[in-house]
Amino acid sequence: MNEVCEVTGGFNERNLPYEVPEINPEVLDEDQKEALYVRIEKLLKKKDAVLVAHYYVDADLQILADRTGGYVSDSLDMARFGHESDASTLVVAGVRFMGETAKILNPEKKVLMPDLGANCSLDLGCDIEEFSKFCDEHPDRTVVVYANTSAAVKARADWMVTSGSAVEVINHLKDKGEKILWAPDKYLGDYIQQKTGADMLLWDSSCIVHESFKGSELEAMKKAHPQAKVLVHPESPPSVIAQADFVGSTTGLINYAKESDAKEFIVATDRGIFHKMQQAAPGKVFLEAPTAGHSATCQSCSHCPWMAMNSLTKLAECLEKGTNEIFVEEEIRKKAVVSIKRLLDFAKERGQVIYGANDA
Ligand code: 13P
Ligand code: SF4
Repeated sequence: MNEVCEVTGGFNERNLPYEVPEINPEVLDEDQKEALYVRIEKLLKKKDAVLVAHYYVDADLQILADRTGGYVSDSLDMARFGHESDASTLVVAGVRFMGETAKILNPEKKVLMPDLGANCSLDLGCDIEEFSKFCDEHPDRTVVVYANTSAAVKARADWMVTSGSAVEVINHLKDKGEKILWAPDKYLGDYIQQKTGADMLLWDSSCIVHESFKGSELEAMKKAHPQAKVLVHPESPPSVIAQADFVGSTTGLINYAKESDAKEFIVATDRGIFHKMQQAAPGKVFLEAPTAGHSATCQSCSHCPWMAMNSLTKLAECLEKGTNEIFVEEEIRKKAVVSIKRLLDFAKERGQVIYGANDA
């Protein structure tokens, strides 16, 4: 990923209560990259560490994770791998909630991240004080939160879910007669509500990357590519989800692309996923879903500015110096682990990985 993307920062026209970082990809020639690979590989061995990366980080980091016996996956599966790994240090190339989840599940392990500033607009859009007040106002509801939240928010919740598991969990709770309080992603919440018919009260927040996808421009793109299947992550707006051939988690989208007979796909999620999609489905064509056009308010250009903060140089430095360690207060950790373990146990009982939400 070598393009430089200008991103609006701070309190912009949408009045976001946080800064959106600029994307400044690390530019390395092949020799520099190889030297960093060799250095990091040695450091991983020396520090008894394993690299766990998300599909959205730059391909260089994903290649390194695969090359060193680490792992590249979605957020649920990253947590599972980190939990089952024998390594005493987990290096998480992703965003902060992924590092925190790794620490919550593995308090005895050291968890490092290339950049502790790599956050997530959903996490930033769900402040624990306000969220706690919201929960207190609705004590009759079971609190279900998305993985993309802080440790403190998870500690306040009854369940944590991921996009690949949310529909199954909410169906399970609905069957038990429970009413749901959902946070933070309103589009994912709305999608789950449509799929399950559950009684859900939604927190008002969204992902700046996925909400940039545009329904009207997608319609035009589909006309120009009539054979293409449309793959959509459920953090996208309803007008985009409505045009999907498949809606699912990142792993769900990759699997669909691999198993489908189609040769061409329009993909509405972070473009970092194209690395694994192309590996899983060689020879197929993947197109970025449109974020531009008449109604464009694109802030991300299909790439998460926080995921983009991870780089090979920062990774080498955090390993070398043992810096950028994730800590979670023990009192919060003990509560947060309950909501996370509920999901992991639920997933295990039903055969481990719960793929994309509508892989019917
Ligand atoms: P997954 O849980 O599908 O990996 O998604 C995480 C995420 O941040 C999507 O934007
Ligand atoms: Fe958060 Fe969106 Fe980035 Fe995913 S893509 S980490 S939801 S800001």
